[in-house]
Amino acid sequence: MNNKQLDEAISFIRASYTENGKQPEETERRIQEVTASINQTGTYSHTIDELRFGAKWAWRNNSRCIGRLFWSSLEIFDHRDLLTEDSIAQSLFEHIEFATNGGRIRPAITLFAPETDKQTIRIWNHQLIRYAGYETDKGIIGDPASVAFTKQCLRLGWQGKRTPFDILPLVIQIGMSEPRWYPIPPELILEVPLTHPTIERFAELGLRWYAVPCISDMRLEIGGLSYTAAPFNGWYMGTEIGARNFSDTSRYNQLPLIADLMGLDRSTNSSLWKDRALVELNAAVLHSYKSNGVSIVDHHTASEQFMRFEKQELDAGRKVNGKWSWLIPPMSPTATPIWDHYFTEIEMKPSFSYQPVPYASDEAQVDHKNTSAIVTAAAHGCPFHR
Ligand code: ARG
Repeated sequence: MNNKQLDEAISFIRASYTENGKQPEETERRIQEVTASINQTGTYSHTIDELRFGAKWAWRNNSRCIGRLFWSSLEIFDHRDLLTEDSIAQSLFEHIEFATNGGRIRPAITLFAPETDKQTIRIWNHQLIRYAGYETDKGIIGDPASVAFTKQCLRLGWQGKRTPFDILPLVIQIGMSEPRWYPIPPELILEVPLTHPTIERFAELGLRWYAVPCISDMRLEIGGLSYTAAPFNGWYMGTEIGARNFSDTSRYNQLPLIADLMGLDRSTNSSLWKDRALVELNAAVLHSYKSNGVSIVDHHTASEQFMRFEKQELDAGRKVNGKWSWLIPPMSPTATPIWDHYFTEIEMKPSFSYQPVPYASDEAQVDHKNTSAIVTAAAHGCPFHR
């Protein structure tokens, strides 16, 4: 650790102990202990309370997340002791099971050993559960956002069925060794087939989506330590699926099919066929998750919850970190209270941040940049939304 990291460690300990009402003597004692450890060994390790608080705080600080009202409910699994791919995969299965909870989704994060000079643990998946994408002569089958990662899985020996909804395996890498891949036991994966409350033929599209969004490629920084494998989940906001994953032309691109099913006039923009199809697709997403007993929030409710979060933070005397272009939902943003609200983006720690894609082909890096740039909504960033 260098001086900057030492400073970060000290300021994290001081701020978190103060916010959590610890006595000044205890805070100073811990600061001395951490300083001594860094001086002697070059690093230190977090107590379970520091880890718990650090992870929750990183969520609270994330400028892009609309779902932060629930930051303090985050469940933390401490798996810093696991040093084999097999045991890490096993604990990821447990994370999925806990988070899924039969549909009543629970926000959770699993922490593996932080990065050291000697070793880095990486989960290659962007999310623990995600659909494969295959390039074919007739275009892409599956999720175009997964093409580069799917190639890596195939290279490692995984075989997909080549349906539009093949669940990718977990890919785990320790240090510089070749990563190992693990199919997720199907019984752990909850998925929702999409139906529409009134348009019966909607089901013919054969669309489905998984219940738990669990971002697994971001870095969590707490007090100068860097957790390069720290997958976290929340529940979905409907528009992430309805107004991005299924409707973006660079993703599943379903609006034309839905418009045709609805008998809309696609020969002119002014029929508003895209808008009408978008609304019904989003209605289908909310309806399907709800009728299957799977947690989901609509964008109006999420926006109201975000306003409550902001008030709660301001009342507690804290600044709210916000990035407007990410906080507004991708559908009817002007109909939410976030629209005419002003936010400032500040650098805050602990934080979630992007890290380079570990399978460093140029193509993959470009793919990754595009998915994060198209994005206003590709949604990484926090256990919640977009
Ligand atoms: N937007 C991403 C997706 O559609 C998920 C990002 C995290 N979202 C969340 N609600 N926690 O898969």
